Amino acid sequence: MKTALITGITGQDGSYMAELLLAKDYLVHGIIRRSSSFNTERIDHIYQDPHDPKPRLRLVYGDLNDASSLNRIIRTIQPDEIYHLGAQSHVRVSFDVPEYTGEVTGLGTVRLLEAIREAGLRTKFYNASSSEMFGSAPPPQNEATPFQPRSPYAAAKVYSHWMTVNYRDGYNLFACNGILFNHESPRRGETFVSRKVTKAAAKIKLGRQDKVFLGNLDARRDWGYAGDYVEAIWRMMQQDKPDDYVIATGESHSVRDLLDEAFGHVDLDWKKHVEIDPRYYRPTEVDALCGDASKAARQLDWRPRVGFKELVRMMVDSDLKQEKAKSG
Ligand code: NAP
Ligand code: GDD
Repeated sequence: MKTALITGITGQDGSYMAELLLAKDYLVHGIIRRSSSFNTERIDHIYQDPHDPKPRLRLVYGDLNDASSLNRIIRTIQPDEIYHLGAQSHVRVSFDVPEYTGEVTGLGTVRLLEAIREAGLRTKFYNASSSEMFGSAPPPQNEATPFQPRSPYAAAKVYSHWMTVNYRDGYNLFACNGILFNHESPRRGETFVSRKVTKAAAKIKLGRQDKVFLGNLDARRDWGYAGDYVEAIWRMMQQDKPDDYVIATGESHSVRDLLDEAFGHVDLDWKKHVEIDPRYYRPTEVDALCGDASKAARQLDWRPRVGFKELVRMMVDSDLKQEKAKSG
């Protein structure tokens, strides 16, 4: 049985990654943070009885800002594979907490790489890089496109990305970067634009909300489905050689398209419900992302299965169901 360690297991991708690895018979360890409220909602359905003597999903407290906890966890577990998905992942918020974002999203990766190196382990390492690193580089973006980061988050990810490359080259570590474009799901955090829109569409349809306040409606993103993207991550880690891969759908849509699709699905006209709030503008914006994932198609035999329309409808339907359950 292979052993995996997931950072960010309580997040969107962490929960899908854990499901995938459990289905492949891994023993899965996940790092969680202490929180004043419950933060394991996304993995509660797969977290077994804590009294089970041999559970295949095990949670351990740690923090990407706390090297001693990471060292201890890695030395104790000695994982075959680490899926490093933890981060302060919100771009807009990174402008408010730039130093903290650098600590968690940038240095957090180095703390893990150092822990592996110092323990002398042959652990394979996956780093969650991001299409946000391309910033102002015009689409389509692929592995050869130069990074032009436009936010503290993106700059921290560029650092994390290059440190991963450096540990691969310098210490012969099996370390991969997945340059994933935006990916969403019903488990997406509610302050990211996709989920904010699908949740608003559901609540407005049910008469529980009238307005939603948004920022830049012209931004374009390449939105895929998180369930498809964790499969690509796993495939990267099963290759003979570590490498970096762009993961994307190759289709780009604006926030307006997202509104058309989500509100249209429940027969609403979004123009009657959307107001612009400049608080959601960013000091520097990434205008357009559209990925070219032909390397992943060629080398990993990976292709996205869920398209934009299907994704948005899946999210609206799930939000409708959740909202209805609240009244029931
Ligand atoms: P997410 O839902 O925001 O999850 C982030 C995870 O990181 C959560 O489990 C969070 O724990 C954890 N975390 C935050 N700060 C931490 C700290 N100091 N120590 C330990 N854990 C910490 O993000 P996601 O959408 O799943 O994304 C996963 C990764 O992929 C992130 O690195 C993100 O930057 C990157 N990425 C995401 C996308 C995308 O479109 N989703 C695209 C490209 C790259 P709590 O639950 O306790 O907050
Ligand atoms: N969050 C948010 N809220 N974004 C809005 C809003 C709003 O009210 N209104 C417009 N937008 C625009 C943003 O300005 C941005 O151009 C676009 O919608 C997408 O914003 P997010 O959903 O917050 O995602 P992101 O692209 O900034 O970042 C996500 O994708 C990255 C990959 O490119 C995050 O998941 C990052 O962690 C990830 O690396």
